[in-house]
Amino acid sequence: MKRRTFLAGTGLLVGAPAVVIRQSSARALAHGTAFPFSVASGDPTSDAVVLWTRLARDTTDTSPVATQPVSVEWMVATDRRMTKVVRRGVALAQPRYGHSVHVDVGGLSPDREYWYAFRCGGELSPVGRTRTLPSEQADIARFRFNVVSCQNWEQGYFDAYDGMAADDPSFVMHVGDYIYDVSRGGGVRAHERQALPMTLDDYRRRHALYKTDAALRRAHESFPFVLTLDNHDALEDNTTDVAMLNRRAAAYQAWYEFQPVRYAPLPASPAMPIQRGYDIGNLMRLTIPDTRQFRDSETPCATESDGKFAFGVYERACRQSEAAERSMLGQGQELWLADRLQKTTAQWNVIASTVKMTPFDMRHNGELYRYLQSWDGYPAERNRILDQIVAAKVPNPVSLSGDIHSYMVSSVVRNVGDDPRTAPMTELVGTSISALWPEPLAQPMAQGMPDNPHVNYFESEKRGYMRCTVTRNELLTDLRTIDFTDKPGGAVRTSKRFVIENGRTGALEI
Ligand SMILES: [Fe+2]
Repeated sequence: MKRRTFLAGTGLLVGAPAVVIRQSSARALAHGTAFPFSVASGDPTSDAVVLWTRLARDTTDTSPVATQPVSVEWMVATDRRMTKVVRRGVALAQPRYGHSVHVDVGGLSPDREYWYAFRCGGELSPVGRTRTLPSEQADIARFRFNVVSCQNWEQGYFDAYDGMAADDPSFVMHVGDYIYDVSRGGGVRAHERQALPMTLDDYRRRHALYKTDAALRRAHESFPFVLTLDNHDALEDNTTDVAMLNRRAAAYQAWYEFQPVRYAPLPASPAMPIQRGYDIGNLMRLTIPDTRQFRDSETPCATESDGKFAFGVYERACRQSEAAERSMLGQGQELWLADRLQKTTAQWNVIASTVKMTPFDMRHNGELYRYLQSWDGYPAERNRILDQIVAAKVPNPVSLSGDIHSYMVSSVVRNVGDDPRTAPMTELVGTSISALWPEPLAQPMAQGMPDNPHVNYFESEKRGYMRCTVTRNELLTDLRTIDFTDKPGGAVRTSKRFVIENGRTGALEI
């Protein structure tokens, strides 16, 4: 138990602590079982973090490594060389969850970095780095995190993540489309198969492929992630169709098995707790609602729309979309969000919506079109949220979102045409890691800019992510842009900077 020497960087553990691996597990383990997906961490709190890995023989082999649960030793240290181990234990990798490992390590100190590793059957994992959040009661002067979304394997390499080496974010918040279920072909690299994933094994193979991107792997090894899901991760809609529910159950389970997240769905269950909230000291309250599982139909106006315009993604605005009862969050979640807004004591109040909250009107053939899969399809509920923000005088409300593979900086007015200075909220939309926003989708937005004066900036050509630095005085966002994604090795630089000043709505370019 005395010698605990990790050889840094090699993932090699020498004379490691003598936690006994149960003989039955070790014997039953398939030859070659190791950690080909490396390690990851996520869902940090001020005293805990989830450590993740997955046992497999290689990244393309989804067959079980054992018929039984397998013991996996884990340890957490305060140094990169893993000499000062502060927590250790044994977790069970369960066959029903694909022998993935999720360890919710508690008892950690707030606002500090840790290193961690796993060992199983004589194999040692790479060493990962993670970080806890500041204490909920702490007086925090500055907090930094990154916002990413939409990594499409076929459409580009994920090297934008390598820009984060210069950022030192406390966590990386992923607001959806970690995988793409659809395959278009003809991109810079191919999915493992073209057909849509339908079964658990299909989704496992898709996640396994994405986890082989080298830059994504480095990011997971370096920073904790906070993840939510959007439409390409799992099926949308508040559906009752059994086939669709089965597919959603498969997607949820595979997502859990491959992500460093705290809460597991029951196997084969189409329901999973996704919404969550964080308090970063008294500086920032972050609320991440589930915008997918409970939403009403995204296509209330489709029958009146031109299906050839923007691939049918933008719909002709119709009265049905404005109905008061239409909901993206579902009633329970709307109440939960309202409660968080009313009770906040934080200086900055961030809602991380997968899809943009800002209204945006577009013209096509003399008719009004909107992107109804975003909050434009749920304006009554959006207005209720804005009403709560105004009524509770919520300090510095900001929406952060993704989905449209574009940067968009705007004031969240209730209706297009409202004076942006009266907007209750500011929004920053981050562009994609690699997914493209094709011309038929981008052009109506670019051409619609004069009709939407509450939008300060729209840029659909660039790939990258957002780096947010929050202080008492401001929320500063650097748009971190990569110069190419069609091959590995793109370089990341800050292309624009926007600041939201304390007590003011709207972002200013600096
Ligand atoms: Fe996307």
